[in-house]
Amino acid sequence: MSNSDRVVLALGGAGTVGSGVVKALLDKGFKVAVISRDSSRLEKLRSFVSSNNKNNLTTIVGNVGTEEGAEQAKEALLTEVGKVTDIVSSLGFSWWQGGPPHTQTLKDLQWVMETLLLSTFVSWKAFFPLVKDNSDSTYTFITGGAGEKLLMPGTGFLTVGAASTLAFCQVLREEYPEVPCKLNQLKINTGVGTPERMAPGYLNHLDLGEAVTSLVERRDTSHTVFTINCPADLKTVILEGNL
Ligand SMILES: NC(=O)c1ccc[n+]([C@@H]2O[C@H](COP(=O)([O-])OP(=O)(O)OC[C@H]3O[C@@H](n4cnc5c(N)ncnc54)[C@H](OP(=O)(O)O)[C@@H]3O)[C@@H](O)[C@H]2O)c1
Repeated sequence: MSNSDRVVLALGGAGTVGSGVVKALLDKGFKVAVISRDSSRLEKLRSFVSSNNKNNLTTIVGNVGTEEGAEQAKEALLTEVGKVTDIVSSLGFSWWQGGPPHTQTLKDLQWVMETLLLSTFVSWKAFFPLVKDNSDSTYTFITGGAGEKLLMPGTGFLTVGAASTLAFCQVLREEYPEVPCKLNQLKINTGVGTPERMAPGYLNHLDLGEAVTSLVERRDTSHTVFTINCPADLKTVILEGNL
């Protein structure tokens, strides 16, 4: 199956991480679909990708973080694109430093868990059946780390949310050891930015997108966690396919 026959659903594709992935996938000839709650973010994404690729990008307004919203988005998606062969999930938010736990409310923690963990679970439950039994398919999670680097004053709830998403991905690997679809994860232990908003040690979202695209293109690993601590580590993901 050539890249042009493959349709990748990029969950979170309108975000900082996701937009780099979407652009890289389109540049390699894949068809890509993105669901976002915000039509203006989708417009921004359309103007960000190369003009000769725009026809290969399908955008749908929807909320994949609720069971009802995810089912509605799935129906709209299948009507538009017919099939999904691959999924990349980078749902969540870029950063959270709301303060130490005693200054926070239950609502704050609920928001963190809803955006990081619950949207990842609910969308996985809705969309995984589309690719689960196909050995030519991939499902790739992009998560943050939850180690020492993240835990600094005021980031506690981010660590709680990131840790729970990591645990969820581990649970999937353990519960579905034999699933035909290739199930992989990139665990990013550093910041990710657009070329205009970079800081020392950050990953350029376009370089990250290239690494994710090579993983999706190759389909030769499953149940693997690629840990990315610095930009050089992305090369490992890309080069492993050329060994
Ligand atoms: N940015 C970083 O520095 C960094 C570093 C390490 C790891 N990561 C990982 O990458 C993930 C994404 O980060 P990011 O920087 O790309 O965040 P972002 O720019 O805020 O984008 C997150 C995306 O997730 C989507 N999303 C969240 N809940 C949703 C829902 N219920 N329904 C539909 N879409 C939903 C948002 O969609 P809408 O368009 O609908 O708002 C948005 O497009 C993080 O959660 C983290 O695990 C990021």
